[in-house]
Amino acid sequence: MPAVRKVAKRFGLLAGWSGTPDFLDAERSFGTLLFAADEAGGALGFGGTLRRGPLTHLGDLFVLPEHQSSGVGRTMLTELLSENGPKVTFASSDPRAMALYVRHGLRPWIPLLYLTGPTAGLPAPPVRRTDADDIAALDTHASGGARRATLAWYAALPDVAVYATDGGYAAARRTGHDVVIGPGGGVSPQDCADAVLGALAAAEAGTARIAVPGTHPLVPTLLGAGWRIGDMDTLMADDGGLDLIQPDRYVPHPDLG
Ligand SMILES: CC(C)(COP(=O)(O)OP(=O)(O)OC[C@H]1O[C@@H](n2cnc3c(N)ncnc32)[C@H](O)[C@@H]1OP(=O)(O)O)[C@@H](O)C(=O)NCCC(=O)NCCS
Repeated sequence: MPAVRKVAKRFGLLAGWSGTPDFLDAERSFGTLLFAADEAGGALGFGGTLRRGPLTHLGDLFVLPEHQSSGVGRTMLTELLSENGPKVTFASSDPRAMALYVRHGLRPWIPLLYLTGPTAGLPAPPVRRTDADDIAALDTHASGGARRATLAWYAALPDVAVYATDGGYAAARRTGHDVVIGPGGGVSPQDCADAVLGALAAAEAGTARIAVPGTHPLVPTLLGAGWRIGDMDTLMADDGGLDLIQPDRYVPHPDLG
């Protein structure tokens, strides 16, 4: 794990995690974490997935710059996506990533916007504090697969709070300087938006980060309120994944899907 974290740090992936456990531990426990090394044990890269019931979420595929474009990514990907069942991922703007994922049966679907902005001045629908068990069924519905253990793991982290409304839920994690929202979901798109906005208000942080699929009603709400697009990925899925995940009423966690 120290060697994996060293690679992850070079790509800035651990910036939102103040210590361990982190999302790499989650991939190891609830999916697959692969480390690629040369014959002398020198790091080449790593990749990771998380399982949600039958669905595989490809969370990471990273090859160190000095080893890119020599087949390491493809080799790891073939192993990571070897299980049957629907597959989804968030592809970066690196054309090699999208090309590899398309060749493994996934298709570019919609943008995933990484938005940041102030929590003040937004609608604040009422939410109640709850636990992972309470939201597990709704999360399965919105995210496309069951992951009760992953949700319980995340909710037990020190700075994580889980909020719910009658038709929606959202997890919020306070970091040193902001709050990260996700996963969140709802019976309807508006239920999801209300739960996320309620969680944003309840978390009482100055600024927040959230990954929102392009078709989600929160996109006009947050950008209309002056939030900024910090980064953009492409939500990709194979045919099975397209049937399961509900991008207009789901807000994934940036690292856990
Ligand atoms: C994306 C990444 C993981 C791929 O790993 P890699 O070891 O460099 O890639 P590989 O050499 O295994 O494969 C690259 C593929 O891209 C293809 N490719 C390269 N440039 C391309 C382009 N402009 N358009 C289409 N395909 C392209 C190559 O032909 C090759 O496909 P092939 O093996 O089927 O011929 C790696 O480059 C990386 O770490 N990038 C930076 C981090 C990142 O963005 N990761 C993705 C997170 S979603």
